[in-house]
Amino acid sequence: MTVIGLGYLGATSAIAFAKMGHQVLGIDPDQAKVRALQSGSIPFFEPGLDNALSEVKSNGKIRFASSHDDESRKANVHFLCVGTPQSKVGLSADTSYLFTAVDELLPYLAKDSVIAGKSTVPVGTADLLIEHIRNIKGFLPHLSWNPEFLQEGRALEDSLYPNRIVIGSSDRHSTWTLRQLYRNQIEEGIPVVETDLRTAELVKVAANAFLATKISFINLMAEVAEVAGADTAELAKAIGYDDRIGSKFLRNGIGYGGGCLPKDLRSFVARSRELGLEDSVGLLEQVEAINSRRRNRPVEIAKEYFGSLVGKEVLILGASFKPDTDDIRDSPSLEVAELFVGEGAVVTVHDPMSLPKVSATYPTLRTQPDLETAFRNKEVVVLGTEWGQYKQLDPASVSISSRPGLIIDGRNALDVAAWKQAGWAFMALGNGFHQVEEKSQSSQAVA
Ligand code: UDX
Repeated sequence: MTVIGLGYLGATSAIAFAKMGHQVLGIDPDQAKVRALQSGSIPFFEPGLDNALSEVKSNGKIRFASSHDDESRKANVHFLCVGTPQSKVGLSADTSYLFTAVDELLPYLAKDSVIAGKSTVPVGTADLLIEHIRNIKGFLPHLSWNPEFLQEGRALEDSLYPNRIVIGSSDRHSTWTLRQLYRNQIEEGIPVVETDLRTAELVKVAANAFLATKISFINLMAEVAEVAGADTAELAKAIGYDDRIGSKFLRNGIGYGGGCLPKDLRSFVARSRELGLEDSVGLLEQVEAINSRRRNRPVEIAKEYFGSLVGKEVLILGASFKPDTDDIRDSPSLEVAELFVGEGAVVTVHDPMSLPKVSATYPTLRTQPDLETAFRNKEVVVLGTEWGQYKQLDPASVSISSRPGLIIDGRNALDVAAWKQAGWAFMALGNGFHQVEEKSQSSQAVA
């Protein structure tokens, strides 16, 4: 098979397919990326992937190239894994990389080979690709849509042991070919949903929109709890025991980010509008509005506590969009950091993995790789990404080097009692009790 596009999705899928025993040619026009993969290094951080790459390289199951070659002609399946970023104008997804990838593939496409899309696309894209290919080649291609649900930080495991396999196809040959490819997983009992192309395209956006909605729902409860004086984390625990609701994706905080959820939700809104469904997108617009409102909350809390933030020394703990990745795309933490900068604060960011990326893209933010130094003289500390090392941090040890100030837990992950005991004023998002209690202390201090 060929795997076209070696970003997060493509590189992981290529390595996973090779581990499953298939013969894989990974293709990406970015020569630096290809060279890195050829030499055995992964151009991003993902646990376990480097070991898996060296294993499949040493048993000759994988090869990387910057363009198609004769091997491509022999492939039974060509996986499209190129990016579909948000368009520079508007909310919709830019599918142009997909069409370019197909154009480059067509001279090598055998008539009975299957093209299988994994990229997340607006519903109807596969139909456009079929038409495009038919116009150029003069025959109807075998096309499948086979969405991928991998989560960063556990991408290899999710690819090897997915909780479902979705195969949307234009024809029976395509479905049969993909079923053969996933034969071992299917025999192990992983459920398969065989469907049409459009449903398969929609499954992926629907899954991401549902997850985003779940997070925004609990963040809406957080807004209520803060005003009413209740604790969202306990509320989430209580409703999560109902297995119709489930406890996952109910952590309130500064909201969801990353390369998928925000972009896919916006593209879904744009596509629904194109389909004339203006009324239906209201729910999704609210999901996004709640998500971006929660980013403002740490700044609001700090302003309620201190008054002005001009010149205040602020530390943001965590820069990646979630722990255990160096991915800073649409990172909630960095958006919070920039909001503090907008208030005139002096902002330092700490992160175990992604600081080089932060320095390269956020010139207004200072970075400090040493955690104890980062804490020095900080008046406001915000937990933006719940890396394990922050959860395990002993507040007494950092309080020695820094005068205890205000700590805002943007992810409900810290030990409240320990931080308070070390002298810090502590507020967690979605916890009305902390906010009322600390606010009254700050007004006493001001008085
Ligand atoms: C997501 C989907 O989970 C995955 O199925 C899809 O293939 C790609 O998009 P990923 O981007 O790796 O995966 O991140 P995910 O683990 O879903 O987290 C997304 C964001 O939501 C993160 O910023 C995370 O911090 C936030 N989140 C998650 C919450 O704010 N609360 C939660 O309860 C869970």
